[in-house]
Amino acid sequence: MTAVACGFDGRMIIDGIRRDAVSGKRFEVRNPATDEAIASVASGGAEEANAAIDAAVRALPAWRERPAVERARLLLALSRRMLEERDRLARILTAEQGKPLGEARGEIEYAASFLEWSAEDARRLLGETVPASVPGKRILILARPVGVTAAITPWNFPAAMITRKLGPALAVGCTQVVKAAELTPLSALAIGELAIEVGFPPGVMNFVSGDPEQIAGAFFSHPEVRKVSFTGSTEVGKILMRQAADRVVRLSLELGGHAPLIVFDDADLDRAVAGAMGSKFRNAGQTCICANRLLVQRGIAEEFTRRLTEAVQALVVGPGDAEGVSIGPLIDDAAISKVEAHVADAQRRGARVLCGGARAHPKDARGRRLADRFFEPTVIEGAGPAMLCMREETFGPVAPVMTFDTEEQAIEIANGTPFGLAAYFFTRDASRIWRLSERLDFGVIGANDALPSAPQVPFGGVKQSGFGREGGPHGTREFVDLHYVSVGI
Ligand code: SIN
Repeated sequence: MTAVACGFDGRMIIDGIRRDAVSGKRFEVRNPATDEAIASVASGGAEEANAAIDAAVRALPAWRERPAVERARLLLALSRRMLEERDRLARILTAEQGKPLGEARGEIEYAASFLEWSAEDARRLLGETVPASVPGKRILILARPVGVTAAITPWNFPAAMITRKLGPALAVGCTQVVKAAELTPLSALAIGELAIEVGFPPGVMNFVSGDPEQIAGAFFSHPEVRKVSFTGSTEVGKILMRQAADRVVRLSLELGGHAPLIVFDDADLDRAVAGAMGSKFRNAGQTCICANRLLVQRGIAEEFTRRLTEAVQALVVGPGDAEGVSIGPLIDDAAISKVEAHVADAQRRGARVLCGGARAHPKDARGRRLADRFFEPTVIEGAGPAMLCMREETFGPVAPVMTFDTEEQAIEIANGTPFGLAAYFFTRDASRIWRLSERLDFGVIGANDALPSAPQVPFGGVKQSGFGREGGPHGTREFVDLHYVSVGI
């Protein structure tokens, strides 16, 4: 797929105009399944980011004053256009990111749902009145857009993580500059093209691509950017926090996870296996909230692991655009090396690989070799706390199973990490659902549910998984400043 086949030519969108980098530089976007260059995209830096921020500054007063219902109509129009273009957008997404087409279609629907939800919420940004403490006064609380905002988005969900940030920002009257991941800028540009088509005013949303450090640097040094929303690694999140400190820029950080999925002896095993499969192997395990470690109670460990292994062996590895494929490539060479290192480390420390465990070498429809980025979906038995895969995010299709004896022990193992994004557990005991929901130190908790994402929920983590929430009314509020007005009457 070339940029032209995507329906656009890889230029940035600044102030409603397609723009090349001032330097004329471009970078290649490669298909992770084939390693072919599929597009060349403008490689901007600080100058282009500042131009985009200036455009967002100019667009802000009129957008902020526009009635919420009109902002909502535009967001809804964009959401609908994305759904009408679902298959084309999904092909772009699969070409640049690698996930199977069915998942890519699901992501476009998910992405559109954030815009739809935000459009609905735009009309419900209510202020408050509060009783004053003395006679002759009234207190009002006004909810005001924070102003110009910026979004830095990841490669694993190139469409949904953009609309999750754009939707609420634009709904409340902020403007935004988006910097998509260098590995996957095409979905962002495709969304930007549709936004122009449905009539968003110039400058309300802008898309820049290129040098991440320069662009993020501009976000934090330009005096008018009031808020930056970032999804990505904890390591980068910490750097951004330091940069934000200089101007006290408001931040939302959705960072790394290391999700436990706990299966108790009393669980519905079919449901637990299906949950583990859906969570662990979605996007080839490259999801911040995917189950990274499976904690299984001793009484059912053998049976659970047997059923899980059977299900994993039925997964089909291949390029995302091929029929029947469930596991696509990993995003780049570093990703596959990390997965390999986690498996080797587990084996060295005494774990057994029950299936998978090595690179896979699928072919394309014409029998040609693909890029060396595929990893066999893997189940590891006998995982222990010292192993890398039990200490950090693997971000690949590897399911390490560790056994435990008591509920107390499971909670302790689950919480024994600096990360706190998502946790899952399977049990039929209603009291245990309460106990674990309160004691697991994670922002997203799935009780008998390993696919908890939805536009109306406050998605986000605790501890080193970040702060701030995306989605739902809580996500909308991240783009709002409260002004309280004390009125003497
Ligand atoms: C993520 O990986 O951060 C996003 C996952 C989701 O929204 O379900």
